[in-house]
Amino acid sequence: MNAAEIVDLCRSYSLFEWGTQEVNPLAIDRGEGCYLYTVDGRQILDFNSIAMNVNIGHGDQRITEAVAHQMSKVSFVSPFMVTEVRAEVAKKLAEITPNGLTKSFFTLSGSDANEAAIRTARLVTGRRKILSRYRSYHGSTHQVLALGGDPRREPVEGGMGDIVRIPDPYHYRCPWITDEKEFCEFNLDQIEQIVRLEGAHTIAAVIVEPVTGSNGLIVPPDGWLSGLRALCDRHGILLICDEVMTGFGRTGEWFAVDHDGVTPDIMTVAKGITSGYVPLGACIVSDDIAEAVHDRPLGSGLTYQSHPVGLAAASATIPIYESDNLIERSKKMGGYLLEGLQDLASRHVSVGDVRGRGLFTALELVYDQDSRLELFPLTGPSSQADQDMRKLFDTEGLSCALRGPFLFANPPLVVDHSQIDWALTIFDRALDIADSETASAGASAPPHSE
Ligand SMILES: Cc1ncc(COP(=O)(O)O)c(C=O)c1O
Repeated sequence: MNAAEIVDLCRSYSLFEWGTQEVNPLAIDRGEGCYLYTVDGRQILDFNSIAMNVNIGHGDQRITEAVAHQMSKVSFVSPFMVTEVRAEVAKKLAEITPNGLTKSFFTLSGSDANEAAIRTARLVTGRRKILSRYRSYHGSTHQVLALGGDPRREPVEGGMGDIVRIPDPYHYRCPWITDEKEFCEFNLDQIEQIVRLEGAHTIAAVIVEPVTGSNGLIVPPDGWLSGLRALCDRHGILLICDEVMTGFGRTGEWFAVDHDGVTPDIMTVAKGITSGYVPLGACIVSDDIAEAVHDRPLGSGLTYQSHPVGLAAASATIPIYESDNLIERSKKMGGYLLEGLQDLASRHVSVGDVRGRGLFTALELVYDQDSRLELFPLTGPSSQADQDMRKLFDTEGLSCALRGPFLFANPPLVVDHSQIDWALTIFDRALDIADSETASAGASAPPHSE
């Protein structure tokens, strides 16, 4: 089939996620390292690791071999049976995650890992409320169990419910407190007041992405995560860290919590655990929680839980972070990328802020530097400039994520200097387009400004 036929059949017979069906997808034939190759022969630089998950890069045959080997023996067993790959990966996760996190509940994705985390937190604390941040994303499935009539719906009856939002440690959007430490204390104090007003005895857990991903790559101030850990301890609230996007070297450490030396009670992972080669996630719990659920029914399970093929992919992927020195590389190349982005920021009026940790970086685009009004809205119709920037990326063969005002740069951890340099030249041209939409270029304020 040629590219047009593939696209046509996929449009006719399959549905695309999230948005409308007015899509013009790339037909991909193969991938290698940081590059994807389309069916009609174009080379695309993947500067977002697809969904910030293909950390080890595309086409690594070590994973193919491990998966094929597992499939040649057995492709599927019941989650109540065990396999060597399950044993290996569970032990390895206990070794590389912070001390005190020991037992993994293997899922298919980040969403169901977070569902398991929330249900486990409610089960062991006997409390209902979950605190989560406004700027956060933890997956897309939660309501489905409540939807079915099966009695197993009971733990989630009425949908998710009992969510209380807390403010984000987003210093750029709190410019009246200039000192970072002061801002950190202010934010933690606000959270503590919410805990008191809600009643700590009603709160099961706080869930956070240690570095917020798709909602703006918000790196919290130094000391924020350890402050949150202490706050949770003071009130007997569990801390759940969602490392689905930040885990496996993305931020220059195995996990983002390692930057602060924090051990959450529950940590969820997915994406980088297999680098997307086969779906897999995990909800990893502390010794205390493992003990608490030892003789209490867990109340969660899926047919494909602890899938041997996903685990085979993970058992081959995780050692690659070590053997190929990818975590160190993320730190080093991330520093280089961040410098390049800072240079762009110094030359483009549309760049309000540059944030990053390891190869997890983004620019925040603003209408003008003083008001910090976002240049493109996160929801609603896209502007001409937004469309023109996307068109430029497409024409040049750069795959990257522009989501509202956030332009992300999150290449696979195998990225090299020349690939970063080239991508930044395209960003430079894209930012010329963004600049033309700003107040200093005389543009009228964006439609979402009222
Ligand atoms: C922080 C975070 N948590 C959870 C998820 C959901 O993971 P999945 O799409 O594998 O269900 C995502 C997905 O992007 C994510 O970024």
